[in-house]
Parts: sequence; C-alpha cells; structure tokens
Amino acid sequence: MVPLETDPARITSAVRAARQRGRRVGFVPTMGALHAGHASLVEAAAAACDEVVVSIFVNPTQFGPHEDFARYPRPVDADLALLEQLGVQWAFMPSVEAVYPDGSSHGQAEQMHVAGPALPFEGAIRPGHFAGVATVVKRLFEIVPADAAFFGAKDWQQTLVVRQMVERYRMPIEIVVCPTVREADGLARSSRNAYLTPAERARAVALHDGLAAAAARWDAGDCVAVAEAALRETLEARGIACDYAAIVDPDSLAPLVDPLGPAIALVAGRLGSTRLIDNRLLPARRDVARQS
Ligand code: PAF
Repeated sequence: MVPLETDPARITSAVRAARQRGRRVGFVPTMGALHAGHASLVEAAAAACDEVVVSIFVNPTQFGPHEDFARYPRPVDADLALLEQLGVQWAFMPSVEAVYPDGSSHGQAEQMHVAGPALPFEGAIRPGHFAGVATVVKRLFEIVPADAAFFGAKDWQQTLVVRQMVERYRMPIEIVVCPTVREADGLARSSRNAYLTPAERARAVALHDGLAAAAARWDAGDCVAVAEAALRETLEARGIACDYAAIVDPDSLAPLVDPLGPAIALVAGRLGSTRLIDNRLLPARRDVARQS
C-alpha cells in the first residue's frame, strides 16, 4: 500500500528530510474522490519532482452551510489504490482537528481575507468559499513544505486565489497549473460528476459545448457580449440553469479592458442539485478588426 500519513508533524519532517537529501518534492492537494484529472496532476508532479505527496482532506471551511460537505464522496480505499498505482511517495490524510487544531473550522476564527479575483463568480455565489480554500491551502503548505504544488485549470479562479495567497505570504513554493482533463465528449472531469443522473450527465456536456460556441464567436471577431450570449444560450437550450457565463481578463477576472484579449470564458451551471464549472482560455486576437 502507499505509505499513509495522518500526522502533520511527521509529514513535515519527512518532506524536510527529503529536501535536505536534495530531493525535489511535489505536492498535490486534493479532497479525494480522485479521478483522471487528479491522476494527471500526480503525473505532472512526478515528472517535475523526485517525490510526490498527495493530501486527501475534505475541507469543511470551504463549504457553505447548504452545500455538499456531508455528501461529498469519500471513496478512501479506491483513492489509496489509485495513489499506489501512480507510485506516490506519501498519501497525507489528516483529520479536521489536525488541520484546524484551534477549532477554527467551526468558529471561523482566523479565516483568511481574500480579495481581487476571489470576489466575483464563485466568490459571489459561494460566500466564504475562497477564504476557506486560502486558509486550508496555506495550512497545507505549512504542513507539507514542498518545492512545488500542482492544481487543475478547471478551478481557474481557485488557482488565482492560491497564487495571490502565496505572493501575499511570500511562501517559497512554485504553483503549477495543469490542463483540464476531459471525458471523451468534452465534459471536464470533476468529483461532482458522480452526482449526475444519466440524463443530467448527457446534458452536462453543454458546458463544454457552450465554451466551444463562445470560442468560435471570439475567433470570428464577435464582441464579448455576443460570445457570452452564445455560451449562456447553449446551457439554457439544454435546460441547465446558468449561474454565470462571462468573458473576462484571465488574471484579474475583471471585465476586459482590451476587447481583443487574451481572455478567459468562465461558466457555471446547475443540473438538479449539482453545480458544475468550466472555463476556456481565449487567445489574443490581434488580427481581428477592433470591435465597437
Ligand atoms: O481543489 C480542491 O480539491 C480543493 O479546493 C483544495 C485545493 C484541495 C483545497 O481544499
């Protein structure tokens, strides 16, 4: 079996010792329910580093009171089997008390302040979510003092929040963002896909199709509003409630100053009780006539 560690002090010592031996350590923080997207992060970490730590921790502070913390999938045996197969050096599975020894997961004491790209989109729809993400990632980085940490581009806004937190606290860790892994039909891999009924699963591909439609409008030189409408309409045509469909600056998530990009299209939709997000980077389009 993959070496399993639950004690923060022991994983800290093990990672420090490995680095003192000159080994480069990669870290993949996860909430478990591992899938091909996580496997690709582990593979990227293994390619860039000598040793890989994967944490599995369903972080209570990033879930709102009416969100899916209790039902979030926790297939621990399957997760550990996958990590064994992937050849990681350590699986780290701390308890809530180990990560939040001061009880702040309940009292909300010491929740981090987040700003800028943390505020719109997921930040507006899920108040407190990114404060919880920043809080736990900072704690995990303190416990696992790795050289580099690997995150998926599907959670684009999360990667901006993590980068902002690392810069603010001058944490000596490289943040590596890896491409989104997709199903054969284009649906982004997500642990929450497991919630979808077969009928919802068939419709869920509309997020990917909508992003493709928006990219086609973008490439054709249409203005941002037209491309955003193509994205939203693709979801709505499949009966998906669209929380947002926006084309914005990929670093700040603010409205585009330069309508020629580069840009990112962001989308979130609800199918029954399941919320899915996805995104697509849009290249700068200097060759297209400036839009009015
Ligand atoms: O992306 C996730 O799985 C989580 O938000 C993370 C980064 C592991 C923090 O709990």
